[in-house]
Amino acid sequence: MSTTFQLDTSTSRANPTPAPMKRMTIPGLRKRKQDGVTAEPIVMLTAYTARQAQLLDAHCDLLLVGDSLGQVIYGLPSSVPVTIDMMAAHGAAVVRGSYRSAVVVDMPFGAYEQSPRQAFANASRLLKETGCAGVKLEGGEAMAETVHFLVNRGIPVIGHVGLTPQAVNVLGGYNSRGRSEAEAKKIVADAVALDQAGAFAVVIEGVVEPIAIAATRAVSCLTIGIGGSAQCDGQVLVTEDMLGMFERVPRFVKRYAEMAVTIDDAAARYAADVRARTFPGIDQTYQPK
Ligand code: KIV
Repeated sequence: MSTTFQLDTSTSRANPTPAPMKRMTIPGLRKRKQDGVTAEPIVMLTAYTARQAQLLDAHCDLLLVGDSLGQVIYGLPSSVPVTIDMMAAHGAAVVRGSYRSAVVVDMPFGAYEQSPRQAFANASRLLKETGCAGVKLEGGEAMAETVHFLVNRGIPVIGHVGLTPQAVNVLGGYNSRGRSEAEAKKIVADAVALDQAGAFAVVIEGVVEPIAIAATRAVSCLTIGIGGSAQCDGQVLVTEDMLGMFERVPRFVKRYAEMAVTIDDAAARYAADVRARTFPGIDQTYQPK
């Protein structure tokens, strides 16, 4: 059965109305890792819009409304300026556009670090306003108390260790992590702390492969690699990166399409048609009966 539906933008209803389909659940996904083994890896991609969610939904287990939307959608220099209002608006669009995948929304910088209570207020707002299944936040040991607080109050959480983009001002850039012994130990300790706090998954970003594997073995929860290792329990990429929307992408991105070239070509042909007055043609104009 196809899970791709047209979205009626005037009512936000799918058309045709989809047969009732149970979304993937966080506990169901979490159970994929049994005794340290994940037979079927978790497939996760970012999504920021309803139409993008519709197209990705059939292929993914988890859709992440990442705060990378700051750079990808809004042209911001980093994810630091992203607000909770932006995440709520895009999270709701992605939930409306999907029926099958579980949707997780990123907590933006400044929305959770102050205290577990601040994190609960903002995470519960995201769940209420978007219908998402859980939230993601960055940081390891320092965030363990907050993760415990959220999970114990009904909010599933994905942690994020290694290269944590919201901390770019402390890290000094987006270089890979885990090259020194101290850094490697901290990454594994961070993943373990999040696991023990109740996170159902931990994103491991931009980490040298042996440390990504060590972290995956050290935790009972799922690990989701992005520049980690194929041995992680699942993988995530920024969709626009893997679609070839940008000239420069991190080393860990595999390009599955060249969408920037396709769009550039389509825009060039449209512009040529307009200038030559060959668009609109007879098929695109209304003629008197
Ligand atoms: O914001 C984001 O898109 C992310 C993924 C890259 C993991 O955090």
